[in-house]
Amino acid sequence: PGSTLHDGHGRRFEYLRLSLTDVCNFRCTYCLPNGYRKPANRPSELSPDEIVRAVSAFARLGLWKVRLTGGEPTLRAEFTEIARRVAAVPGIRRVAMTTNGYRLAAHAAEWRAAGVSAINVSVDSLDPARFAAITGHDRLAEVLAGVDAARAAGFDPVKLNAVLMRGINDDELAGMIAFVQAHDLSLRFIEVMRTNDNPAFFADRHLAGQSVIAALEAAGWSRLARAPGAGPAVEYGHPGARGRIGIIAPYAQDFCATCNRLRLSADGRFHLCLFGDGGIDLRPLLQHDDQQDELVARIVALTATKAPTHRLHQGNSGATPHLASIGG
Ligand code: GTP
Ligand code: 5AD
Ligand code: SF4
Repeated sequence: PGSTLHDGHGRRFEYLRLSLTDVCNFRCTYCLPNGYRKPANRPSELSPDEIVRAVSAFARLGLWKVRLTGGEPTLRAEFTEIARRVAAVPGIRRVAMTTNGYRLAAHAAEWRAAGVSAINVSVDSLDPARFAAITGHDRLAEVLAGVDAARAAGFDPVKLNAVLMRGINDDELAGMIAFVQAHDLSLRFIEVMRTNDNPAFFADRHLAGQSVIAALEAAGWSRLARAPGAGPAVEYGHPGARGRIGIIAPYAQDFCATCNRLRLSADGRFHLCLFGDGGIDLRPLLQHDDQQDELVARIVALTATKAPTHRLHQGNSGATPHLASIGG
């Protein structure tokens, strides 16, 4: 069992982050502060048939988890159809999604029924006015109602994502930790990452994930041993909590040593890293079922060339304008 897809640094890849669109309806200050703007000559999004061909090739290599992401993946009109078809690809055992939660309350049961079993929802503040200031939408209550609906629909885990921002939400750590414990949720604190579009925001607001650890320990959380096949997040558990709290700290030493994921952008570019080059266009190999052998061989060869770490350590974001362009 397990994936046979590996690189030259001892890492195996179990997990594909599949972006369905780069469009987003929120305006998060660290990502798309002026809202989504369609780039000139933007290629069309992969069709459901192209997506199924891509996922099938990765699954043939033993990759078993797909996370549907974006932009906001649920803005794709075919979202439910795509989820259903990806979940039906032989070898795919887990389909997860990452969303801003905007349409979650109304659609949680439908998406769960389509075969999505795990969900991450962005909640950067539990204060309604701050939430509105960060995202550009006064929708905290609706998003939290969506989180409840996701639990009721049987998603497991339901995780909240909170991007750490100095002077914006760094006084909410204890409140967020208490909230997820009381609601039986998991939470992930994420360091702001520098992209080509946000260097000033990054310089003002970046806060190391290490700052969360004191708050966690004060509340009785302790570091969990890394599970085999786990990704780069560091995780904490609590005897009185079913959920976990994770920290994604890409500026920490050795973060990339446990990388277990690959990425496909909404228009079919294969990204070996979030902060690498512009991606390799696989779309020409997604046109016919009889191209699968060639596609598999290309994925194997490209994956072998994955760099040991991202370019953030060199103070550079590679070719990444913002995370919505690649699927985070
Ligand atoms: P699982 O491990 O599948 O539960 O999810 P996740 O936490 O990786 O997924 P999610 O889509 O919720 O991403 C949360 C944040 O982590 C986003 O900001 C991602 O960009 C970031 N992230 C996820 N994987 C990586 C990675 O490999 N490298 C970096 N630098 N950031 C990552
Ligand atoms: N740094 C850190 N996290 C980011 N996200 C988007 N852009 C950035 C960034 N520059 C987060 C979103 C969402 C997740 C998918 O990625 O808040 O929770
Ligand atoms: Fe993997 Fe790149 Fe993320 Fe590092 S930054 S963990 S190499 S995707």
